[in-house]
Amino acid sequence: MARKIVITSGKGGVGKTTVCANLGVYLSRLGFRVVMLDVDIGLNNLDVIMGLERQVIFDITDVVCGKCRVRQALLQDPNFPSLYLLPSSHTYSSSKITGEHIKNIVDVIDHSFDYILIDCPAGVETGFHRAVFPANEAIIVVTPHLSSIRDADKVVGLLGEYNIENKGIVINRMRGDLLLSGDMMNIESIVKAMGVSLLGVIPEDDAVGKMSTDGRIMLDSESARAFTLLAENIHNGSKKIFDCTYKYRGLMGYFKRNIKKHV
Ligand SMILES: Nc1ncnc2c1ncn2[C@@H]1O[C@H](COP(=O)(O)OP(=O)(O)OP(=O)(O)O)[C@@H](O)[C@H]1O
Ligand SMILES: [Mg+2]
Repeated sequence: MARKIVITSGKGGVGKTTVCANLGVYLSRLGFRVVMLDVDIGLNNLDVIMGLERQVIFDITDVVCGKCRVRQALLQDPNFPSLYLLPSSHTYSSSKITGEHIKNIVDVIDHSFDYILIDCPAGVETGFHRAVFPANEAIIVVTPHLSSIRDADKVVGLLGEYNIENKGIVINRMRGDLLLSGDMMNIESIVKAMGVSLLGVIPEDDAVGKMSTDGRIMLDSESARAFTLLAENIHNGSKKIFDCTYKYRGLMGYFKRNIKKHV
């Protein structure tokens, strides 16, 4: 049976789809069979990020409407053969698709995969229910900002109404320079405020933005190390966290030495 993990947040634009896509890549690189379900119906994002948009023939709504079988709609990633995507439709109104529909799809593929990653839309309305209903684990993505943490906290409360056995947070877009200067909420206070265990910290990284504009996943970037650790933490339950300040500590030392020279 697959682990069924929904990637959610409450607040929009904090990096759910980015975390879902990269987790898919890094879990498949660890040798697991992974499928990503784009349940942000009407706003297809995962196929675009993965560079698979042109390969889409059938989508999740075609499966629900009975136009095709689940397997016909699954896209295999050409770069990571054990990674699949069930794309969302970008034209169809999502109102007729229920959480039960998504659960039926999950039940069909449950035995063929190790991980089913469900990309949840923003908000806590129908789309949230549809994505969370078939899952038994949840990743809550937050950025180091109060508004994101408040919304995520509401989501943690709502998850209590579902069949979620495990949940953890991923802090995305962490800036090492601001952490060192004390101008960004630190990891400990975010974890304390949320009261949920920490799964990973992903740095703010231009390479991540590049991935979503040209469809390529950066495997040699700073964030690549962070996503590898996240995938390992999720799989083994280990607790290694990427140190976002690593790069800046050296730089600060360099600047301090040079300032001393010139004073
Ligand atoms: N660690 C990061 N470093 C730099 N840019 C990032 C990072 N994570 C996400 N982004 C950028 O932030 C934007 C929003 O990311 P994404 O689409 O993954 O968010 P989302 O939570 O799925 O949004 P929505 O709520 O609309 O579904 C994208 O342009 C993405 O490239
Ligand atoms: Mg998204």
